[in-house]
Amino acid sequence: MASRRRSRFTEAAIDEYAAEHSTGPDDVQRDLQAVTAEKTGGAAVMQIGDDQAVLMETIVRAMGARRAVEVGTFTGYSALAVVRGMGPEGRLLCCDVSEEWTAIAREAWERAGVSDRIDLRIGPGIDTLRSLPREEQFDFAFIDADKPGYPSYYEEILPRLRTGGLILIDNVLQGGRVVDESATDESVTVIRELNDAIVEDKRVRVVLLPIGDGVSVVQKV
Ligand SMILES: C[S@@+](CC[C@H](N)C(=O)[O-])C[C@H]1O[C@@H](n2cnc3c(N)ncnc32)[C@H](O)[C@@H]1O
Repeated sequence: MASRRRSRFTEAAIDEYAAEHSTGPDDVQRDLQAVTAEKTGGAAVMQIGDDQAVLMETIVRAMGARRAVEVGTFTGYSALAVVRGMGPEGRLLCCDVSEEWTAIAREAWERAGVSDRIDLRIGPGIDTLRSLPREEQFDFAFIDADKPGYPSYYEEILPRLRTGGLILIDNVLQGGRVVDESATDESVTVIRELNDAIVEDKRVRVVLLPIGDGVSVVQKV
């Protein structure tokens, strides 16, 4: 069955075919999608797509990741993918400013039986990251919060990531506006500059994937 909201940059028939040939959400994930739509209304579009969720879960599992951090948790869908990928030994630190949205996440994690593996900190993500020791402690990171904060999140996470570890950065195509010169609002400008900086950053290798709203997979080398 076709899943919802995949690439905004692939033609519909290809998108549909890709969905039909990718692992879809299970009952727990579908339930979280339904609860999110019901309780958050239009904000539900912030949830990552099914393709991105299975991609993240698969990458995390293949890496054997045990420690991960996420900036921007919302109702917990991406966190669920990461924590499942890590398995029972994994620990995920989640950063978000919203008590209301993350209350939905907490309930979903409880239902999924993974809540004891997640440390959710409410407050500006940058404060939480800066409160952590500046030493390599994470295998995997996901950045999916306020766009102006992205460069700081990247710079705070990189020294705390092990060599070979990954940072996934969401919304790096900004609905395609990164290539529209007339788009000059703060979000698109910040993301454009960050994309330009990362591809030149000698500390990492990066591939920008046109799935969802664009996801950069950044590896510390
Ligand atoms: C795009 S949503 C995250 C979606 C989530 N990854 C998912 O798949 O369901 C962005 C989240 O970032 C949070 N956020 C906004 N500003 C923030 C900040 N300064 N620090 C931490 N989180 C922030 C919002 O409350 C919101 O829940």
